[in-house]
Order: sequence, then C-alpha cells, then structure tokens
Amino acid sequence: MSHEGSPASIRHTAATHTKLAFVMVGLPARGKTFIARKVARYLSWLGHRTQVFNVGAYRRAHLGSRQPHSFFDSRNEEGNRARLEMAERALSDMLAWLGQGGEVAIYDATNSTRERRAFIADACAKTGIEVVFIESICDNPDLIAANIRATKAHSPDYAQVEAEEAVADFEQRIAHYAEVYEEVDRQDGRYIKIIDVGETVVAHRIDGYLPSRLVFYLLSFHLVPRPIWLTRHGESQFNVEGRIGGDSSLTSAGLTYAQALAKFVREQASSPVVWTSTLQRTIETAKTVNLPYDPWKALDEIDAGICDGLTYAEIASQMPQEYAARRGQKFRYRYPRGESYADVIDRLEPVIFEIERERRPLLIVAHQAVLRALYAYLMDQKPEACPTLPIPLHTVIELTPTAYGCEERRFALLGPDDSTNATESSA
Ligand code: SIN
Repeated sequence: MSHEGSPASIRHTAATHTKLAFVMVGLPARGKTFIARKVARYLSWLGHRTQVFNVGAYRRAHLGSRQPHSFFDSRNEEGNRARLEMAERALSDMLAWLGQGGEVAIYDATNSTRERRAFIADACAKTGIEVVFIESICDNPDLIAANIRATKAHSPDYAQVEAEEAVADFEQRIAHYAEVYEEVDRQDGRYIKIIDVGETVVAHRIDGYLPSRLVFYLLSFHLVPRPIWLTRHGESQFNVEGRIGGDSSLTSAGLTYAQALAKFVREQASSPVVWTSTLQRTIETAKTVNLPYDPWKALDEIDAGICDGLTYAEIASQMPQEYAARRGQKFRYRYPRGESYADVIDRLEPVIFEIERERRPLLIVAHQAVLRALYAYLMDQKPEACPTLPIPLHTVIELTPTAYGCEERRFALLGPDDSTNATESSA
C-alpha cells in the first residue's frame, strides 16, 4: 500500500516562518523563569524548536554563582560591565541559535530598563527576528515571599548559604533592581503583561499564530497545587486479543481495576474532576469510580485508520509497507485515513489549556497514546519520545505540578493475580 498522503516531514502544528524571541521582563522573584520554562515546554511540545537563554546561568558559568547583592547595584561600575557582558553573551548565543535552525527563543533576564530592552530589540531586528516582551508583574506580598523561598531552595546562587542570610541578600538584590526598574509600555513595542500569575493578562499589538496562542496559554496559569491522575482504562477485550483501536468493553480484570481505581479515589483527600474519552472502555472504568465524568472526543485513542481492529501481526502480513513505515518513524507516521502521534498532540492542545486552568484534583481516564502525549507535556519530554513512554495498564500516574516541574508517583493498583491478561498493546 502506498504511503502517499502521510509524508514524514509534515509538521504537527502551524508553521512559524518568522523567528521569534520572547524577551522576559520583571524584577527578581516575579516568576520569570517559571513562566519562561513553562512557555518553552508548551512550545516544544507543539513541535517548535524552542530554547531558553537564561542570563543568570551565564553569570554563574562565567563569574561563579556567589555574587553579593552589591554586584547588582547599578552604582557598581564593575558589576554593570560584567552584567552587560553576560547579557551580551546570552544574546549573541541566542541570535546564533536562531540563525542555525532554532525557531523560538526565550531570553530570560530582568531586562529592567528601557535602554536594555531597546538594545535587545535592535539586535534582533537586524537579523529579522520578531520580539515580544513578556513582563511579569507581581505586587502580591505572599507570592513574592513564596518566590523568594523557592529561589533560596532551588537557585545555585544560595546553595551553601543559611536561609536567613540568603533571603536578606536576595531582598537587597531585588531592591537594587527596583531602583532602576521601568515598566514595559507602548514605547517598547509588542508585549504581553502578566499580573499576579495570570490574574490579569494585557496584550499589546499581539498578532500571529504563536504569540496569540501564548496569550491564551498564559491566561490559564495558576499556582494552586493539586494532583493530576492519569490512567488508562481497565483491560479491554481488544487488549487481550492484541488488537488496536476499536471500542470494546472491559474484561473482568479490567472491571477489577476499575473497582481498585474507585477505592484509590475514595482514599484521596478530595474528589477529583473526572474526564474520559468517548470510548466505552474509559466510560465503563469511570462509571465504576462513581463520580460525575465528562467525556472528551479529544481524549479518544489515536485513530488507527485502516488498521483499526487489527493485530500487529495482521498489519505486518497484510500491509508490510505500512508496518515498516511506522516502525521507522513512529512519531510522525500517520495511519492511512487515521492519525499520527503528532496529530494527537495537535488535538490535545485544548485539553492542556483546561488542565492548566483546573484548580481541583483531576482524574483523566484515557488511552495509551493520548496519555503518552499528555505525560510528555506535563513531564517536559520531547514530543518525539511519546511513542516509547511507559504508560502501563492498571497503573495510576500521579503528577503534581510545582513551580519547577511535576512530581511523579506511580501506583500499580492490582496484584499479579488480579491482572492476568494485562498485556501491553502499543497503540
Ligand atoms: C542574574 O545575573 O542573575 C540575572 C541578570 C539579570 O537578568 O539582570
């Protein structure tokens, strides 16, 4: 069978023909690095070659991590020279990277003065790179205090320093930046302003696919900690037969898993919001959990097209070219009249927005390929890694988003005797 119509080079999202630099702005402890990393994770997941250039990391690499707060005082000429040099190194690496195939760069630094921002914008304009400033403003003292504590806990700048001393030094560093800080305004060009972690988002002259998507994405941010539980449906009849796709029911082992899942959920501190796909096996699993659930079409398993309902052995013997094509390029391979993993990522974008927005615990009962794609987003894995990420049957994967990624725990809910038929079928 011909493989025409599913070229390996097809993108899984709208192409960006223009190179973009998102330039962070904000005082220290305003969540810039958190936002920069999250934006990078989101754009990489969508298939854009994205990289963060963090000026603090350049300082640590070239000047050492321990700089007293006086280093950041604008009256310190030597400090100013050294800081400008670090900013220039990061900028020149960023421009070189964008010139060599990079698509979206995120320049993560305070960029507190209009002069510094104009310098960056001019350098980008000379090489045809579009600049959008992303300013993080936060006046909420609790959020700032939490960020200062997180910086003490996570930044190598304060690795060997007593907590009290670290906090005092960091507060003085912030005060030095605050003395010269100029808020972004229309004179700076295009910008997105995020106030108090997404409570207010202001967009100025934002157009084009990616910057517009980003505004929506930033609108869904919050910092309320809550678990996200990912699970495949209980074992289905097709799992036992090694068939892909279809809409078969749970086996008795699958129902036993659904009951174990119900017990797991009852034992949690609060009940989750439950999402399923529209396929029977996830709905039967969720019904046993006995909570209201929302079926999402976007959570349906990868569409295996003309291979739906076949075993891998049948595909290998009836369509050897398709079988070989998929083995060679599992991420981009699109089943004839069906989907590729890249297509699955595309259709999951609204689900990602809702996951980000939801503040209550969340239980997602879905399918292997779909959960691989969601897991890749939450755990910052390259999209190309999706087809091999382990998402076993009869296991709850608990992911708790924190300021620095997600904490993961796995719960295999059935003993070996309960899940005799829990064979892996690789969608
Ligand atoms: C740093 O050196 O930590 C950051 C420099 C800056 O963004 O101003």
